Amino acid sequence: MAPCARMKKISTLPPFSKGQPQPATVASRPVNRCDQLGAHPFSDTQDGLFRAYLSDAYAATCKQVATWMGEAGMTCHTDAAGNLIGRYEGEKPGAPALLIGSHLDTVRNAGRYDGTLGVMLGIEVVAHFAARGERLPFALEVIGFGDEEGSRFSASMLTSRAVAGTLDALPLSAVDANGATLHDVLVHNGLDPARYLEAAYKPQQVLAYLEAHIEQGPVLEAANMSVGVVTAIAAQYRFRVSIQGVAGHAGTMPMSLRQDALAAAAEAILAIERLGAAGPEDLVATVGQLHVGPGASNVVPGETTFSLDIRAGTADVRDRAATAICAALKDIAKKRNVTLSIEPQNDLAATPCDPQLTDLLATSVTHVTGQPARRLVSGAGHDAMVMAALTPVCMLFLRCKKGISHNPAEAVRHDDVHTALQVMLEFIHALAASTASKPTEFSA
Ligand code: GLV
Ligand code: MN
Ligand code: MN
Repeated sequence: MAPCARMKKISTLPPFSKGQPQPATVASRPVNRCDQLGAHPFSDTQDGLFRAYLSDAYAATCKQVATWMGEAGMTCHTDAAGNLIGRYEGEKPGAPALLIGSHLDTVRNAGRYDGTLGVMLGIEVVAHFAARGERLPFALEVIGFGDEEGSRFSASMLTSRAVAGTLDALPLSAVDANGATLHDVLVHNGLDPARYLEAAYKPQQVLAYLEAHIEQGPVLEAANMSVGVVTAIAAQYRFRVSIQGVAGHAGTMPMSLRQDALAAAAEAILAIERLGAAGPEDLVATVGQLHVGPGASNVVPGETTFSLDIRAGTADVRDRAATAICAALKDIAKKRNVTLSIEPQNDLAATPCDPQLTDLLATSVTHVTGQPARRLVSGAGHDAMVMAALTPVCMLFLRCKKGISHNPAEAVRHDDVHTALQVMLEFIHALAASTASKPTEFSA
């Protein structure tokens, strides 16, 4: 891509002034919309936000977001995987698209901005161009992905994998917390399981992918910066670990004869924490889910299942940690005379963002903020890491309060959201200028 040549006439946002009422389109609207989507009927739970893939709350959310997409000037549809997609045509109808996306599903007891804010910012970007009747040499598509978090089934990023064309087969017999299979959930939502993979884009339909997301960490706040540019996304593994012991009477089974699956899991979890902490700083290992069977106060636990999430900046560090953790778990199982199974769920390679797009985004940050862009690696997973298999990707991070995320206390500043929007517009203008000088890049 050619270095950023500025367009003749660039549409920008009015300056943000603290304490003043803001025009709805500037910064307050995307934040307010995230807040609106943080409660009933857009949440599956009354206490705290939880929006699972293809749940009733997800359907209500897609309906509401589709209305906002339409008001912003997009035509929208739900794809074969249940993603919500809005399109704003470029100068020539049918041109390849700059995709601007993030996810609409959430973790349990979530914050309101993880994923959702990126989708709302995409809508705001299109609203900006549409309000001015400004067309670009490429189309803009805003994608609200349905399953980034693994919010319903244990595999995550099903929907971006479908769009990127990297999903070979669907885990149709995977079950949710209520025992419903993915197959049945799709059918219930009017989606044809046999056509799911048709959500895939052809590479020639797409120019690039941009994702704006809260940082979910404390780096930008510590550096007193509104936004930052992601250089790469950490490698991830997810496993499901099961330990089978022997259930017994809590009053009669002597301590020396027990095969307690929960005590074994407890020792395993502490080993995971120790081995995670023993590696380099970018290595993290987490057990976030634990099920105990049969789960009665007077029964020695006979079985446990827990999740294991391992991440690092490079596959090498992650893989060495995974090998050490698996060996430690096997030793614990042997010593305690219980049966262990470790089932891989997800293997996501470390994903470098596209260097040229990232430079263009960094230049846009500098134009808007007057400061060199802070570059950082994302420890959190994002749809961008999957979309990188389809098209060059880049990511803009927004500061979030105290770095807190996956927590209802997630918070963003309106002036940071305003800055992010300005950066996205600047980036799109620069991309338009650089691609306009290379029309052959766009032939479908
Ligand atoms: C998604 O938020 C993840 O990083 O697991
Ligand atoms: Mn998340
Ligand atoms: Mn997210």
